[in-house]
Amino acid sequence: MDQEQVKSSLKDNLVELDKRHFIHPTSSLKQQHESGAPFIFTEGKGVYVTDISGKKFLEGMSSLWNVNIGYGRKELAEAARAQMEKLAFSNSFSSYSNEPAIRLAAKLAEITPGDLNAVFYTSGGSEANDTAYKLVRYYWKLKGFPKKTKIISRKKGYHGVNIGATSATGISPFHEMASSMAPGFLHVDTFSTEALRECIAREGADTIAAFISEPVQGAGGVNIAPDGYFQEIRKICSENNILLIADEVITGFGRTGKLFACEHYHVVPDIMLLAKGITSGYIQLGAVVLTEQIHKELTALSEGVMLHGYTYSGHATACAVALKNIEIIETERLVENSRIMGQQLLKGFQKIKAEVDIVGDVRALGLMGAVEIRDPLANNRFPAPISPKVSEECAKRGLIIRTVGFEGMDTIVFAPPLVINKREIEELIFILRESLLVVQNHM
Ligand SMILES: Cc1ncc(COP(=O)(O)O)c(C=O)c1O
Repeated sequence: MDQEQVKSSLKDNLVELDKRHFIHPTSSLKQQHESGAPFIFTEGKGVYVTDISGKKFLEGMSSLWNVNIGYGRKELAEAARAQMEKLAFSNSFSSYSNEPAIRLAAKLAEITPGDLNAVFYTSGGSEANDTAYKLVRYYWKLKGFPKKTKIISRKKGYHGVNIGATSATGISPFHEMASSMAPGFLHVDTFSTEALRECIAREGADTIAAFISEPVQGAGGVNIAPDGYFQEIRKICSENNILLIADEVITGFGRTGKLFACEHYHVVPDIMLLAKGITSGYIQLGAVVLTEQIHKELTALSEGVMLHGYTYSGHATACAVALKNIEIIETERLVENSRIMGQQLLKGFQKIKAEVDIVGDVRALGLMGAVEIRDPLANNRFPAPISPKVSEECAKRGLIIRTVGFEGMDTIVFAPPLVINKREIEELIFILRESLLVVQNHM
C-alpha cells in the first residue's frame, strides 16, 4: 500500500468506529449512522486545521467560537504539562485551594469590568449558567425574598444544554427535544426593552431573580444590540431589584474587539459568565464572576455550607492553561487585532453583499459576524435554508463556517481565531464569495 492508501484505510476504519461508538453532540443521529463523520481533524496551526486525508481548512468558526488564540500553541501545552507534573488536580471544596485557581481568580477580578471581583469555577458554559441561576436564587433567599426565583432571558438567546441553561435558551427546538423546560423561565423579545418592562409588570418584580442575556447573541445568529439597549436594560434591572447576568461565554476574551463585550455598552452586569475563550478551548473551564457587593452579601448572610460545587471547580491544570492563554491575549494584543481584523471582515461581507443577490443583511462586531441569505426576488426567505449548501461549497474550497437555520433563519455565522491576519481574512472572503456565487448560479 502506498501512503495515500494507508491514509484512506485508516480513515475508513475510524469512520466505521465513529459510526458505531461515538454519539456526536448536537448532531443528526441518522445522518451520522448512515454516512459517519466526513471530517476527522488531526492537527491545527494558527487559523488552519487539517483533516485525516491531509486537507487543510481555514477555521472560520474557531471550532465552536472558542479557539481564540489559534491552534497549535505550544505555550499552552507547556503550561498544562508543567502544572500536571506538579499538581494536576486537587479539589477546591470547603477550604482546599490551589495556586493556579487563586491566581486566575485574581486575574479575572483584575480584567473584568467594574467591581466584578469574585469567581466560582465550572467546567464550561452550561454549568456556569446553571450555577448563576442557583446563586441568584440563593442570594435572594438569603436576603429574605424567597419568592424571587424567576429567570428572564431573550428569544434567540443560547445559554447551553443542561436543564437550567436549556430553559433559559430562547430557541424552542432545544426545549422540545426532550421536554426540558424547567418552571420559572420566561423569554422576552430580543431587543425590546418594552417587552422586558411588560414581563416584569405582569409577573411582579418580587418574583424575578435575574435577567440574562448574551451581549451579542451567538448561536441565535450573531445579533448585535441597537444603541442604548443594554444601558436601558441595566436601568430596568436596577430599578426593579433584578440581577443582570451577562453571558459572555462566546463574547469574552476579545471576540468582539473588546476584552468583554459589555465594555461596548459601558454596562457592568451583576454577574458575568465565562467559558470557551477563557482557555481558547485547550482545556475545559468556565467561570461565574460576581460583583464584590454580591459576594460580600452572600458571605455575610450564608450559614453552614453552600451546597453547590463541581468536582472540577477550580481545576488546577485548567486554571494554569487559562492564565497562560490570557497572558498571550494580552501580550500579542489580540483584542486590538480582533477589532481591526473585524473591520476587514465586515468590509469583505459588504463587498459580497453588493455583488451577490442572495445575500441579505451582513454584520460583524470584532471577529463575530453573520451573513444572512435571502430570496432576492421576494426579498424574503427561500422555502428551505440555502446556507447548508453554501457551507458545503465552502468546505470543498477549504473553509469551515457554521449555519443557523432554526425558526426561519438562514444565516451563516463566523468567528475566526483572533490571530487571523489580513491575508487570511481575504482568503475567507474569497472562498465565501465564490461559494455563494456557485450556489446562486445553480438555483
Ligand atoms: C452564550 C453561550 N452560553 C453558554 C453556552 C454553553 O457552553 P458549553 O457548551 O460550554 O456548556 C454556549 C455554548 O455555545 C454559549 O454560546
